[in-house]
Amino acid sequence: MNIAVIGAQWGDEGKGKIVDYLAADARLIVRFSGGANAGHTIVLGGEQYALHLVPSGILYPDKIVILGSGMVIDPEALFSELASLEAKGIDWKGRVLISDRAHLVLPRYRKIDKDMESSRRKPIGTTGRGIGVAYAMKASRDGIRIADLDDPTRLENLEAEDVAFVNAWRERLMPMAVDLVPYLRARKNAYVLFEGAQGALLDIDTGSYPFVSSGMSCAAGVAAQGGIGPRAINRVLGVFKAYSTRVGNGPFPTEFNPNSQSALDKFIRETGREYGVTTGRPRRCGYLDLVALRYACTANSIDHLVLTHLDVYDELDEFEACIAYRVRGKIVEDFPASVRDLSEAEPVLRKFRGWKKAIGACRTFEDLPLEAKAYVAYIEEYTETPIGIISVGSDRNATMVRESPWIRS
Ligand code: IMP
Repeated sequence: MNIAVIGAQWGDEGKGKIVDYLAADARLIVRFSGGANAGHTIVLGGEQYALHLVPSGILYPDKIVILGSGMVIDPEALFSELASLEAKGIDWKGRVLISDRAHLVLPRYRKIDKDMESSRRKPIGTTGRGIGVAYAMKASRDGIRIADLDDPTRLENLEAEDVAFVNAWRERLMPMAVDLVPYLRARKNAYVLFEGAQGALLDIDTGSYPFVSSGMSCAAGVAAQGGIGPRAINRVLGVFKAYSTRVGNGPFPTEFNPNSQSALDKFIRETGREYGVTTGRPRRCGYLDLVALRYACTANSIDHLVLTHLDVYDELDEFEACIAYRVRGKIVEDFPASVRDLSEAEPVLRKFRGWKKAIGACRTFEDLPLEAKAYVAYIEEYTETPIGIISVGSDRNATMVRESPWIRS
């Protein structure tokens, strides 16, 4: 059985925690796209693990994790992440595989990324990890894949500095290589989790282009880059927070207004610990954008939503969510392609009553206060998508499952 877990907003929705939680029942965890731009945080037994390239199932001692074909891999970042996992007692050897179709991020890509950013009149706010350059090299057919490492003809066009880099990492990378399609075909009865990076609104095609990342963070990425075909995906889960955040630049219709909502902005950022795992940048915060969420649900065939960070709203008397945009006086109910429209969109907000109690200890939906249930019900109705899992804290156990995604329907 194959389950895809993607972000349904602008990344940082809590996918790492949810993948880690669901991985208990999986045999394999395949991260299908992105690179060291991602940051997945997992809290286990009071210890915090920050993952960038390694799939979130790594903390279980018996799971195989695979870096999929759509990933762009910086070997330095990968092996330094593996070394820090090892320092925390995680034995990864023999359990981390890399698709032989995954691409490498070469050191000069980071410099090109930064140079391109500084020459843009409207910078994207990239993480500076060379990600966009690696995907551009891939699209221009000049990229280097894991499968190319021992093929001298594929390295002929590289500069000496790149060849030296490839030579330095070859022996460590090659034993981890796997041909993903036959590997998964041979295990077609296994429970496999496909882990997305970033989120649907940062996807190169479905996102708020050009303020997006360069990989496929949409559900379709599983089919193109996860080693299985589209009809083999049994279920798509879309993770979203009770509110919205965005790191980097680009339109964000529900962003809190620094003049009138600065106290709320600070409260959400501090309570939700909304700082980038990769760059440490403070995340931009705002109310939940249901227009964007419904778009993400439809564009990605999301079967179940997963609501995280609901406990961040515990102390609020009331809060709001965006149910439409007003663009130059006109009501818009669908997420626009135009950056101009999205930048000028004013949110039409609906008020919700807060619950004013700590919900971190709730373990079933029935335990939640009425006001929290009403918020959940409204989101389900608006998006026409059930919320199958709710997370009320960073620990693995602070999770309530209303409907297990592993049960076949
Ligand atoms: P890049 O992926 O470094 O090229 O950055 C492009 C945009 O995607 C920037 O706005 C980044 O802040 C954003 N971004 C990339 N990865 C993540 C992520 O994992 N979470 C949130 N935003 C991200």
